[in-house]
Amino acid sequence: MEFVLYEVKGAVGIITINREKALNALNSTVLEELDKTLDAVNLEEIRCLILTGAGQKSFVAGADIGEMSSLTKEEGEAFGKKGNDVFRKLETFPIPVIAAINGFALGGGCEIAMSCDIRICSDNAVFGQPEVGLGITPGFGGTQRLPRLVGTGMAKQMIYTGRNIKADEAYRIGLVNAVYTQEELMAQAEKMAAGIAKNAPIAVRNCKKAINDGLDTDMDQAIVIEEKLFGDCFETEDQKYGMAFFLDKNKEKVKEPFKNC
Ligand code: CAA
Repeated sequence: MEFVLYEVKGAVGIITINREKALNALNSTVLEELDKTLDAVNLEEIRCLILTGAGQKSFVAGADIGEMSSLTKEEGEAFGKKGNDVFRKLETFPIPVIAAINGFALGGGCEIAMSCDIRICSDNAVFGQPEVGLGITPGFGGTQRLPRLVGTGMAKQMIYTGRNIKADEAYRIGLVNAVYTQEELMAQAEKMAAGIAKNAPIAVRNCKKAINDGLDTDMDQAIVIEEKLFGDCFETEDQKYGMAFFLDKNKEKVKEPFKNC
């Protein structure tokens, strides 16, 4: 891969967008490589992903403006679809994805972070949807995911003004869950990922699916989705073991890792 790195640490996979010279901007090649990287994740082994950007300055500074500058209407729409398809794959990926946002998260950078399950950032992070200043709309899901995350009024303000916000404001409006120093960020992301990875894998996956699918529908259907995914956990080895471990009154026992079955 030219622009995407993939590293495995135990049950955690770390994807790094590695196009530092362009502040990790998303061109077609980066999007294609991200897609291939996700396809290659070994889901037997990996239970949580972390997505970050190379270097100390930028997570992702947006879609590639050079590449977009000469697109026709049809090509623009196709480029939007290319980004949306990869971001949707990330959003619906079977296991949780944590965005470790280590600097600029502008345009497509903010949008890819919003496609992840959880966002944490460094104190130098900057968020925004500056597209209207370039003569376009946010095109990789920003008009849809930002209002769902921070509320319609705040999303409209950010998108119409194109104003960037800093990490503390992103935290205040609920765009990120926590802010750390640059030095701490990856360690904190890995700690959170390891905490997720140690829980029963089928249960964690079903939680993600229940939350995502439930949010896409009304409450009557959403609770049925939950019931099915709740029921699906029963009779698994992990459910039997997890409950038997709780009920066992032997204080000397040591919890075994869950097995993904
Ligand atoms: N596309 C292409 N190249 C980019 C880029 C982008 N989105 N962002 C930064 N770069 C490149 C710069 O062109 C520059 O390259 P050269 O060294 O070859 O000149 C290099 O990265 C470093 O950038 P700067 O010199 O501009 O660095 P800076 O520290 O002065 O500024 C910045 C940093 C504020 C992030 C500034 O680079 C910037 O404003 N970038 C564009 C941010 C933006 O508008 N993003 C939204 C893109 S549109 C979009 O994403 C559409 C969508 O929804 C799908």
